[in-house]
Amino acid sequence: MPARKIRENVFAVGANDWHRKFFDAFIPLPHGTSYNAYLVRGSEKTALIDTVEPEKWDELKSNLEELHLERLDYIISNHAEQDHSGSIPEVLKMFPEAKVVTNAKCKGILMDLLDMSEEAFLEIKDKETLSLGDKNLQFLLAPWVHWPETMFTFLQEDRILFSCDLFGSHLATSDLFARDERLVYQEAKRYYAQIMMPYAKNVVKYIQTIDTLNVEMIATSHGPVYDKPDFILDAYRDWSSEETKNCVAVFYISMHGSTEKMANYLVEALMKRDISVKPYNLLQANQGEIAISLVDATTLVFASPAFLVGPHPNALCAAHLVNFLKPKAKYVGIIGSYGWGNKLVDQLTGFLPALKVEVIPPVLAKGVPKAETYRELDNLAEEIAKRHREMFG
Ligand code: FEO
Repeated sequence: MPARKIRENVFAVGANDWHRKFFDAFIPLPHGTSYNAYLVRGSEKTALIDTVEPEKWDELKSNLEELHLERLDYIISNHAEQDHSGSIPEVLKMFPEAKVVTNAKCKGILMDLLDMSEEAFLEIKDKETLSLGDKNLQFLLAPWVHWPETMFTFLQEDRILFSCDLFGSHLATSDLFARDERLVYQEAKRYYAQIMMPYAKNVVKYIQTIDTLNVEMIATSHGPVYDKPDFILDAYRDWSSEETKNCVAVFYISMHGSTEKMANYLVEALMKRDISVKPYNLLQANQGEIAISLVDATTLVFASPAFLVGPHPNALCAAHLVNFLKPKAKYVGIIGSYGWGNKLVDQLTGFLPALKVEVIPPVLAKGVPKAETYRELDNLAEEIAKRHREMFG
């Protein structure tokens, strides 16, 4: 994408990756993504904030050429992951006088990942500022959104927060600013679920810091720039809070139909009790769909047949993902059908050690579900509804 001005002497110079299908060889990207980089021209010095995936270097290079840069003084690295740092060596070949400005942790990781020497760096500390003349950059260390070295850069005069991954969205768009708010909200939520949800407590803490900055714009490293920052700050306050919503996610997989019948029955029993519920067939549901369901759900139900005697591998994969993402769900239900023996409950709960949940007594059917099974599923729906009523009235 072309270089575009976001404020006087502040430019977006990154690249869209319109057709990328997966991130980290794992996360599906329904709308591609972008690798945002920003150029800040002060009266005396010029700084590039982050770079792009190496395969998009040509676009960043062309944008820097278009801006007729005579020299580049600083390359600010907010985060060492290669989608933002990977083109630093190319930028340094183009501007050998530039120093890479980052914190000690990030410096160490960059030296490992990009095989860089220590002389390339100018190390900064938390809250330190760097003058570009009439513009000043302040660095705010923000570990664990998303790696231990992550930091924000705050352009004080323009009140722009360059937040790197935090507040991002995997969304390739021609919009420089977040204009299609429904689409941006959904993709930012998906991004939060997959990348930031395990660090929700840090998110809460950093939003408190950001609230003191009187930010006028948030320029992230993925997706459009927020020129109305309250839109994304309010969304993040909601997602990262301890509060859940009156909804249940049912993750099910079935081999011969019995567990699917049980899952479908439970879904309808919950609907009759005015609970928002959505089933996810683990044969088809992707990681993004599962992750986004975890942001709001109060109760998670795993429905699996016994595969030999343990849970189906797809159910274990889903449970592992849930455990890894550490959602704020309060309750877990387990249902399923088995033939000659089962260790469904022990093995599934064994995959969820990071969750602080009450496991509601499970419903397990030997063979096909029978009248008694459906009565037990009604009881389970009522147990879930009782807990939801206590929370939501
Ligand atoms: Fe967009 Fe953690 O990198």
